[in-house]
Amino acid sequence: MQINSNYANLQESYLFLTIAKKVAAYTQAHPNHNIIRMGIGDVTQPLVPAVIEAMHKATDEMAHKETFHGYSPDQGYDFLREAIQDYYAKRGVSLKLSEIFIGDGAKSDIGNIVDIFSDDNCVLIPDPVYPVYVDTNVMAGRKVSYLNANEQNGFLGMPDESVKADIIYLCSPNNPTGAVYNKEQLKAWVDYALKNDAVILFDAAYESFIVGDELPHSIFEIEGAKRCAIEFCSFSKTAGFTGVRCGYTVIADELTCGDTKLNTLWARRQATKFNGVNYITQRAAAAVFSEEGQKQVKSVIEYYRANAKLMVDAFREMGVWFTGGENSPYIWHKVPDGMTSWEFFDYLLNEAEVVGTPGSGFGKNGEGFFRLTAFGTYEKTKEAMERLKKLLK
Ligand code: MLT
Repeated sequence: MQINSNYANLQESYLFLTIAKKVAAYTQAHPNHNIIRMGIGDVTQPLVPAVIEAMHKATDEMAHKETFHGYSPDQGYDFLREAIQDYYAKRGVSLKLSEIFIGDGAKSDIGNIVDIFSDDNCVLIPDPVYPVYVDTNVMAGRKVSYLNANEQNGFLGMPDESVKADIIYLCSPNNPTGAVYNKEQLKAWVDYALKNDAVILFDAAYESFIVGDELPHSIFEIEGAKRCAIEFCSFSKTAGFTGVRCGYTVIADELTCGDTKLNTLWARRQATKFNGVNYITQRAAAAVFSEEGQKQVKSVIEYYRANAKLMVDAFREMGVWFTGGENSPYIWHKVPDGMTSWEFFDYLLNEAEVVGTPGSGFGKNGEGFFRLTAFGTYEKTKEAMERLKKLLK
């Protein structure tokens, strides 16, 4: 037997696992302390009533042979794909049902999509970045080059004609930095991809945090994107499904390599290696798009947005440089001079009992930065900002 030796090139542990271990050790040593967790972007508010109602109803259906459901159709039930199709149509993006694939979350689909591409591709990944993009390519032994995102470009890297890339990862609103591409900037990426025969893997998991219609929620709002982009989206952050698991991937018919449609390859891959999302979850996801569901999930997003506002105000008051927080649940801020991101992690945990994510865990350009999430409760976010102000002001 031989193992995949590429695994030896990965970081020893997945970032959020390393943090969880450190926090567990601290909690064990200080059992009754009030630690505030703003590290992993996991939601804290319950599923909305429209979703719960749909889940109950679907569960009851599963109890009767007339309404019981076995395997889901390969690409997901039409009722959910139609709801997603309508959601896109409201933004002027027209999709065919066959272009929409239901999956168990954006992380899995983004991780698995690499199956349909040759290992010979040049992969361009922003730095800093959500670690899944890098790790899944390292596992496959692909060569990765990095797109510099930094304070100077507002953590929004732009295409460079001198760099040859076949596969480009973009995430907007960005995890970890919270920065958001505007339409002109995304158009520059679409133009680059079309010119260079490249594909953009666009992670839109945080689109529902965008305020207003000026900024693009979907890359398909940009002319030409259907010919060069795959979009991944999720119900995790939009509707609190981090523990339920459901997402969707969109690959338009226009996206081809020679005569091959990429959605045909993805359909083939999914049919072989994935058995679909369960009926109850797909009914729950469809309820997110009902009139009631939309009202309710938007009010939960507002709740998190109020937390983000508390954070934005606190960082402004402290005079600390940051991005994000306005169209995103993440604040990405500078750590005090002379400290590394991990040193700041320890300092914040020990002195304020607040947990965040060290920027260097997202790539070398993240060194000297730190990520905090707005997914906590309002009370804890407020308390955390008071503790930070005491420490950093
Ligand atoms: C994060 O904290 O970056 C996210 O929770 C990760 C994820 O969505 O998988």
